[in-house]
Amino acid sequence: MSNKMWGGRFGAKPDPIMEEINASIDFDRQLYRQDIAASKAHAAMLAKTGIITAKDAKRIVHGLDTILSEIEAGKFVFKRALEDIHMNVESRLEELIGPAAGRLHTARSRNDQVATDLRLWVRDRIDGIDAALAAYQRALAEKALAHAATVMPGFTHLQTAQPVTFGHHLLAYVEMAARDRGRFADARARLNESPLGAAALAGTSFPIDRALTAATLGFARPMANSLDAVADRDFVLETLAAGAIAAVHLSRFAAEIVLWSSPLVGFIGLSDRFTTGSSIMPQKRNPDAAELVRAKAGRIVGALTALFAVMKGLPLAYQKDLQEDKEGVIDALGALKLSVDAMTGMVRDMEPDVARMRHAAGEGYATATDLADWLTRALDLPFREAHRVTGRIVAKAAAAGVALDKLPLAAMKAVEPRITKAVFDVLAVGESVKSRTVYGGTAPKNVAAQAKRWLKRLQKGA
Ligand code: ARG
Repeated sequence: MSNKMWGGRFGAKPDPIMEEINASIDFDRQLYRQDIAASKAHAAMLAKTGIITAKDAKRIVHGLDTILSEIEAGKFVFKRALEDIHMNVESRLEELIGPAAGRLHTARSRNDQVATDLRLWVRDRIDGIDAALAAYQRALAEKALAHAATVMPGFTHLQTAQPVTFGHHLLAYVEMAARDRGRFADARARLNESPLGAAALAGTSFPIDRALTAATLGFARPMANSLDAVADRDFVLETLAAGAIAAVHLSRFAAEIVLWSSPLVGFIGLSDRFTTGSSIMPQKRNPDAAELVRAKAGRIVGALTALFAVMKGLPLAYQKDLQEDKEGVIDALGALKLSVDAMTGMVRDMEPDVARMRHAAGEGYATATDLADWLTRALDLPFREAHRVTGRIVAKAAAAGVALDKLPLAAMKAVEPRITKAVFDVLAVGESVKSRTVYGGTAPKNVAAQAKRWLKRLQKGA
């Protein structure tokens, strides 16, 4: 027979090229656990509704358990001629239990089967990524608490702007990760409906219980429209979109790690565990993990774009094009998980050079805004006027080649006679950050409070 599943209609074997273009087993074998779980739920339901006998269902479930342990032990032989994970499992089931295996596919199609498997798989990956993001947030919040008062330059246009604290900078990424987790949670809630029972596209005439299989597999409910159930992949798009945004966040931080650890900047040291050496330059320590996180964002965004292009204009219901949904999402979510874990490790191990950061924070007249604010507050100058006065004082300091807090009072008085020595209280970087007590600001006591709030929240498992 040409093919076990549809040999009745076919005389000849497929061309080897047909087999190669058609097969998805090289990647969808990763769905084996979900495929077996869904088949077990389906078999149990078929018995419960009297569509197959309890005896056959028992054989089927037992056979599926055997297959699961064969795959996990690395003893299962995947065959490309059997195209995909569904037919590989079913074919082995027949070898193990004989003709009863043929009853498993009653009231089911590979179309609802693959849609079910992939939803379960994506759901599992979301749970894994969520846990990884929580660990990443914890590592960031712990470092932030330890460095709530460590002053560093804050940048706009990558020019020294105003002093901030290292802890405040790290907590910005905790906030981003929280929104990323929220997006994944939203995607998870929407994808958690069962396509099983939609069969090929129209539903089935067998008296199946879709609510039962949905509940067994942890879905909230069965999907309401059979065509939608087999044809839709928006759950993959949505998860990839959440993943792409998360990856972009990680890539921004990764780029900062590359910058900070460059000897030109020297804000942080990275550990041996997350860097590599050079085969020719003995002095080098390269931030490869950070660079790769930065790069993987490109692949993850690419997977989203690729699937958009596959889905666009695709008529209902199942089209084989949909098989192209898997490689990208398997690759992308794997890359994202690895990226999060690598960032967590780098954050835990990174050692800021506190003195160097503080020194850099004072360069580039970073407290000029503090001076303008002081002029506004103490002398009641309109802010625009204070800005102009400050600009002239900065120009004087630059001409003298000194920092703002090293410019003599007399030089400042020459620009604005009402300035008093009280101005020096706001010109030091430590005073600058301490004064930013507005909600969301960089004052060390705010940063410590936010870090503690996060650690408490993360401890509660949120
Ligand atoms: N390997 C297929 C996929 O990933 C399974 C569904 C095949 N269905 C079909 N009608 N040929 O989409």
